Amino acid sequence: MKQYQLIVIGAGPGGYEAAIRAAQLGLHTALIERRQVGGTCLNRGCIPTKTMLHSAQLYKETAHFELFGLHTENTSFDWAKIHQRKNDVVSKLRSGIEQLIKANKIDFFNTSASILSPHEVQLEQGEETTLYGDNILIATGSVPSRPPIPGLDLPGVVTSDELLDDPSYAQTDSLPKEILIIGGGVIGVEFASVFSSFGCKVTIVEALDRILSTMDREISQNLSMILKKRGVEIHTGAMVERLEQSDGKLVCHFTEKEKPQQISSQQILVAIGRRANTQGLFGNDFSVEMERGHIVTDESFRTSVDSIYAIGDVSAKIQLAHMASAQGICAAHIIAGKVPPINLQAVPGCIYTDPEIASVGLSEDEAKKQGIPVKKGKFIMSGNGRSIIDEQERGFIKVLAHQDTDVILGAQLMCSRATDIVSELSTAIVNGLTVDQLAAVIRPHPTFCEGVTEAVEDVHGMAIHLAPKKR
Ligand code: NAI
Repeated sequence: MKQYQLIVIGAGPGGYEAAIRAAQLGLHTALIERRQVGGTCLNRGCIPTKTMLHSAQLYKETAHFELFGLHTENTSFDWAKIHQRKNDVVSKLRSGIEQLIKANKIDFFNTSASILSPHEVQLEQGEETTLYGDNILIATGSVPSRPPIPGLDLPGVVTSDELLDDPSYAQTDSLPKEILIIGGGVIGVEFASVFSSFGCKVTIVEALDRILSTMDREISQNLSMILKKRGVEIHTGAMVERLEQSDGKLVCHFTEKEKPQQISSQQILVAIGRRANTQGLFGNDFSVEMERGHIVTDESFRTSVDSIYAIGDVSAKIQLAHMASAQGICAAHIIAGKVPPINLQAVPGCIYTDPEIASVGLSEDEAKKQGIPVKKGKFIMSGNGRSIIDEQERGFIKVLAHQDTDVILGAQLMCSRATDIVSELSTAIVNGLTVDQLAAVIRPHPTFCEGVTEAVEDVHGMAIHLAPKKR
């Protein structure tokens, strides 16, 4: 039986980064993956969506070319090529990860793994059938939720998995004329952005009273307005009950504010959350403690069995690729007997719509709920030079600081490059920086980042490009 100091199951951003860091720290490490390396994020999630969003954004911008002194005639798009480019980007990144796994001398097994005991992992295929690990790290991620809504298995009803990683879909050379999206969460609004940019009629049906319900209220209201302006139909307070097929179309039946409604569509995307992926993970009646399908862990990522750890979507409440990577790296350090190097308290959330959305730390609603007194600074990007150059003036940067100490507690952004700028605010939160410390930085001109200077200066009513606050 091959022996390892660490066996990692799942090679998504959590698992492969944990395995590489463990190897760097000197642990003899094995990595097991039943599909392709990169997990959901690389193969069926973040990377393919963002590649398609990039094409969508470029295509949408051609409508404003005249304004920039440019002429384009008969601009059109090729759906099959957009899919091809997405596949090329994914393959390039995947081969990079495969090389890193080899270069770090990690034993890689491309098969399914099943945990039989605190130290034993059984492989479905290959010469080795059982591996022994001093420690086992579960990083098997999540799969789309499929609640028992009648009709969810009808042809034409897909999840993001099929939309992004199903060759039969990727080979279709035309975009559907219309798509109905169940769920106005992160996946729902990102796909609404892609499909509506290419002229597809998009309808969102969301059970709660607003889309992006976990985000800052102002952000979800703004995005809702922008999407509606682009022709996206949004139904909120609308619970989907069943799907049917009629006259070659799919019909979605839902109750909106207590009234029964129905909308027909060529295609339906189901984006109503993801659940932990633990199918076939345990054998021989062995298991670790689970709660509502998730693996339970302590603050050191340890499960109810001392030698078994879990990170990422399979165990974490926050299902984000960068959270899984950060947890994986911390877990590798803990298993190697070292101090974890990453602060997991400030987790940025990013949504790659147009304009981009990003959030870190407390929102105004959360501060109120927790009874934390805050003051805020806000800058509207119509006063930002770079935004005017790029015709991207809609949007804002909002910063929250503690009322008494001035320490930065949260930030919400909705503007160009919000998903890059947010890291500056995360750095401030992780290091306990104050409003004055963040305002003391010279930010280059003209950049979108200058909006951060203005927002933090506005906390004290001192922003240069804003009307003065009453003092
Ligand atoms: P989500 O939890 O963000 O949103 C699901 C939405 O569906 C909720 O608003 C919910 O109220 C609604 N819903 C549930 N049942 C419904 C029903 N029967 N009828 C109508 N609406 C219903 O989940 P989503 O969008 O599927 O994303 C899954 C995970 O993937 C999330 O944790 C998300 O953070 C992550 N993700 C992150 C991305 C990013 O960081 N940019 C991109 C894509 C996904």
